[in-house]
Amino acid sequence: QTGLITLDPGYKNTGSTTSSITFLDGEQGVLRYRGYRIEDLAEKSSFLEVAYLLIYGELPTQLQYEKFTREITTHTLVHEDIKKILDGFPSNAHPMGVLSSLVCSLTAFYPESLDPTRDEADVNLSIVRLLAKMPTFAAWAYKNEVGHPVNYPDNSLDYCSNFLKMMFALPAEKYEVDPVIAKALDQLLILHADHEQNCSTSTVRIVGSSQASIYASISAGINALWGPLHGGANQAVIEMLEAIKADGGDTKKFLNKAKDKDDPFRLMGFGHRVYKNFDPRATIIKKAADDVLGKLGIKDPVLEIAKELEYAALNDQYFVDRKLYPNVDFYSGIIYRAMGIPTEMFTVLFALGRLPGWIAQWKEMRQNGEPIGRPRQIYTGENERDYVSMNRRG
Ligand code: SDX
Repeated sequence: QTGLITLDPGYKNTGSTTSSITFLDGEQGVLRYRGYRIEDLAEKSSFLEVAYLLIYGELPTQLQYEKFTREITTHTLVHEDIKKILDGFPSNAHPMGVLSSLVCSLTAFYPESLDPTRDEADVNLSIVRLLAKMPTFAAWAYKNEVGHPVNYPDNSLDYCSNFLKMMFALPAEKYEVDPVIAKALDQLLILHADHEQNCSTSTVRIVGSSQASIYASISAGINALWGPLHGGANQAVIEMLEAIKADGGDTKKFLNKAKDKDDPFRLMGFGHRVYKNFDPRATIIKKAADDVLGKLGIKDPVLEIAKELEYAALNDQYFVDRKLYPNVDFYSGIIYRAMGIPTEMFTVLFALGRLPGWIAQWKEMRQNGEPIGRPRQIYTGENERDYVSMNRRG
């Protein structure tokens, strides 16, 4: 400490705000959105109902829900010129980079006032546009990668079915959405919808604290989520499990690699800054993985390796001492794989789920009139020194 500044790298012991949106108890493995248990919402609610709850604070009445979903449905189409931005990306562009760019392009195609006192109806229109257009952008990012023509939204379908059809439909053949997959996706989006002040949410809040557009703030959140230590972990988990399978399935060997301080390898999908017990989302997703693969008649050897790895880690002193348990990313990729979602799209699905949480947190930060985020530092550089002209250096 010097003066009034306490150094806290990674903000491990710093509260950045007050919030009434999501409650976590890391010791008890508790997660609640606006007071409702995640287990109840995952079982009984729907993603758009949870989005309404997070953003507006209460579960919607039938009338409110119908109005909300109708507004979203009527904004799923995007300005045709946005396709020119999409076409500019090479097919090897990572879908997360495409997604954050297309979301940021909303600032150009749907310019909004940055006046912090602008009326709520105007803010709500931006919110509806984001919820409505993200699935379209996400599906288009995938089509760009596989070189298929993009699909336009089908407003006769529900949120998840519309996304799946935009992802997988091809002009050459009829596409029917599998209700098992649509239901499983809806539940996964609920489980990812918010998680208090995680890295990407803190990014959305700090960008929004400068009174930048909500589109620019969400685009920044997408980029923070992309990192393999955060949302990018779901892609890294499958790549790790595939590597273990290709290497002969010796989970113990990889467990030891993760414990070796000289080896940068970490067990992806394990550990959490807050949960020092189980991650309640991982518990629900692990069960859903068995259900969905069973219903789809899929036996995925990578699921067996994941269970073996979990069992080995939960009985290994290194992981027990550091309270490292499977997190939300450990099993989610196995369900995405079973749905036919390619690995590099997993974090895009995380972003689709997290969108209502980011929006709710941005809205709360704005409504609370929070100051611009500007942390201090402890300077460790050179003391004052005089300028030396070029011909006298070196
Ligand atoms: C998400 O914050 C959120 O809420 C995020 C999230 C959300 O919904 O928004 O829940 C989503 O991001 C989940 C986390 C996904 N990331 C991963 O699965 C990547 C692997 N996990 C880690 O890199 C790590 O556990 C973090 C990033 C999740 C948490 O890191 P911390 O809290 O900064 O902990 P740390 O890096 O200081 O680790 C503490 C100790 C260290 O060992 P020692 O120095 O004490 O000897 O535990 C070790 C670490 O080396 N450790 C691991 C490990 N995670 C931590 N060792 C092996 N494998 C791991 N996965």
